[in-house]
Amino acid sequence: MRQRLDGAAGTQSRLLVRNLAQLATPSDAEAPLRGANLADVRVLHDAYVLCREGEVEQFGRMAELEPIAGDVDELDARGLCAVPGLVDCHTHPAFGGDRVEEFSLRAGGASYEELHAAGGGILSTVRATRSLDADGLRARVERHAGWMLANGTTTWEGKSGYGLDRDTELASLRAIRDAGGVPTWLGAHSVPPEFDDGDAYLGFALAEVLPGAAQVAAAADVFLERGAFDAAQARRYLEACRDAGLALRLHGDQFTESGAIPLGLELGARSVDHLEATGSEGARALAESDVVGVLLPASALFLDRPMPPARALVDAGAAIALATDFNPGSSFTTSLPLVCSLACTQLHLSPAEALSAVTVNAAHVLGCSHDRGRIAPGLRADLVLIDAPDWRYLAYHLAGDIVAAVIRGGLVAYRR
Ligand code: NIG
Ligand code: FE
Repeated sequence: MRQRLDGAAGTQSRLLVRNLAQLATPSDAEAPLRGANLADVRVLHDAYVLCREGEVEQFGRMAELEPIAGDVDELDARGLCAVPGLVDCHTHPAFGGDRVEEFSLRAGGASYEELHAAGGGILSTVRATRSLDADGLRARVERHAGWMLANGTTTWEGKSGYGLDRDTELASLRAIRDAGGVPTWLGAHSVPPEFDDGDAYLGFALAEVLPGAAQVAAAADVFLERGAFDAAQARRYLEACRDAGLALRLHGDQFTESGAIPLGLELGARSVDHLEATGSEGARALAESDVVGVLLPASALFLDRPMPPARALVDAGAAIALATDFNPGSSFTTSLPLVCSLACTQLHLSPAEALSAVTVNAAHVLGCSHDRGRIAPGLRADLVLIDAPDWRYLAYHLAGDIVAAVIRGGLVAYRR
């Protein structure tokens, strides 16, 4: 059976994607890629990918494709390029309401931190999220997951953190898991209004929420920042989460250097994310470690903040990943192609470095680079087909509006 991009969804357990203008995949060096390996992207012209039972069986040049015995769906990808399914390792998709009013106020000069201190910002989304029941929250997360898929994201992490009470946090984590995401408990996002201070809130969260959160979440995250949680509180939270079996992540150095990098290194965190305020000493320490620096240029742009020191990090040998930070307040986008574009124009990374950062290195942050993040035999058959003659349009197209189709687990999951 032949399957065109505008044809029916596949029915066979094998899918041949043929006539690709180009196929691009990060190098097979051990993850996370760092230094020169980050830019080591293999490009094949006039290529095919053969998928079988959800995995890549083989790929290569069309000229070398042998006849295939048995039933196979075929997808003619003439004029398209394939890259690995994109991996968004930092999103906040479990929220109610929006922050369009705040966005307008910020456009008029109000700052994000001022709005937060006045009880708006994150806490206004906490109010809107608490007003949803579990089904309402589920519907929101599913909607956001659909946006991600349409932008080429085949694997995504999603954080709780807009409930900050037991039921809403656990409902958020379950909604993320059930929508196909990798859940992270962001129990220490902000101090909710019913508590006097961060210590009192953490006492509650660690006693009442952590046991349930640890059943669902893969990782824990903390917002270590002026006006949120300080280093001592972050340590208390992360140590308890580590003891409950969770991997550790930190929101750090977004506005101020408040000790996130030393703490993340000491505790063996998977990543420290944001880094817009990181100075040269912090960058050097991170570069010498196994902790991944997750850069969120869409968030810096959306808040009109300085960009993180990406070039210095990569040149010093750091392992970096890129993510959207999708959330209603500081980064209202689910587009990793947009993030790749910002990585090139604002962070001075190359398209190849950006590709590795949104695929294999992002998968490493989520603990799944063994089975995804590259196009290789035996890995999951997750591909993005981009409507372009050169794979670097992934970053070249400023709006990222180039996703023609997405193959997830060997099946066409989205087509434009
Ligand atoms: O990663 N910085 C903290 N948390 C989110 C923003 C959350 C919000 O503004 O609602 C972030 O940018
Ligand atoms: Fe975030």
